[in-house]
Amino acid sequence: MSAVIAIANMTGGVGKTTTAIALGETLATQGAEVLIIDLDAQGNTSFSIAGPRILQNLSETGRTIESYLNARLLERKSRRISDIIRRSVSSVLHDDEQLSLSIICATPNLRHVEQKIIVQLTKAGISWEEIEGEIRKILARDITNLRKRFDYILFDCAPGISAATEAAIKLADLMIMPTIPDFVSTQGVPAFIDSIFGEPDDNKKPWVLFTRVKARSRHQRTYKSLLRENANKPGGTYRVFQVEMPEMVHVPEAMSQSVTFTNTGRMSYNAKWRDFAQPLHALSEEVRRILPNGCGFQPDGNLQVHGG
Ligand SMILES: Nc1ncnc2c1ncn2[C@@H]1O[C@H](COP(=O)(O)OP(=O)(O)O)[C@@H](O)[C@H]1O
Ligand SMILES: [Mg+2]
Repeated sequence: MSAVIAIANMTGGVGKTTTAIALGETLATQGAEVLIIDLDAQGNTSFSIAGPRILQNLSETGRTIESYLNARLLERKSRRISDIIRRSVSSVLHDDEQLSLSIICATPNLRHVEQKIIVQLTKAGISWEEIEGEIRKILARDITNLRKRFDYILFDCAPGISAATEAAIKLADLMIMPTIPDFVSTQGVPAFIDSIFGEPDDNKKPWVLFTRVKARSRHQRTYKSLLRENANKPGGTYRVFQVEMPEMVHVPEAMSQSVTFTNTGRMSYNAKWRDFAQPLHALSEEVRRILPNGCGFQPDGNLQVHGG
């Protein structure tokens, strides 16, 4: 059975998009069928993976998450989610084969559509909870159909509060919360969890992933210990991944896109990226371990960081 994973944090700039792309590509190099759904109006994932040309084409032909939400919630039209999927989108090659990575893109228009949904439905007397519930109902039904076709469905969520992000978090099998272990990023962790779940059930507890970790930072070590301690306390509302993602100066460059070539693949398997690729593979293994039984994809044999 496939696994639905939401990558979310109220704070921006903590590595949500980097995690979504790097983990998605890593799982795809292991042979899994992966779909990434961009829920952020900034469209960073869409831009990094699809590139400007494909993105413009998807936008012009109405194959974006916002046009889907617009049709389903505002126009009350039927619209199949499978029609907005861009398959085989990545130009990253692994063992000379294109990654089996698909995407549902977002553009800045998503912000307008989300605003319109809230204004129109609020005018009709529908509360925020009902709006989120409605989006969740629609997404959950459509995602159920996609579960047959993909091993992993990853949502790259928007920072702040968005009804679609909240819906994705609630319907996911696993929520990954990328967090820079410092004072500012750490502050938002319990507040965000509380705003979504109140007290999450045991099987709904988000998993904090330390990102941009600097081995020599004492400040970060303090906050890592604090978060791990709080996670282990009785009544702790989150868990913490064993693996930590290091700060690497080349990451911003890898997220950039030229018209014909995606650089992101370097992160997951280029030998020069060992310090990033190894924790990334460890993350994919940890994700498989913590997912509910039978969720996700079991690769054959030993996984190794690829050379080259
Ligand atoms: N491990 C890392 N090392 C160095 N820079 C990183 C790392 N992870 C993310 N970044 C950079 O930090 C910025 C924010 O990351 P991003 O993934 O876009 O965060 P978010 O999606 O949470 O806003 C980007 O410029 C990205 O390239
Ligand atoms: Mg992002």
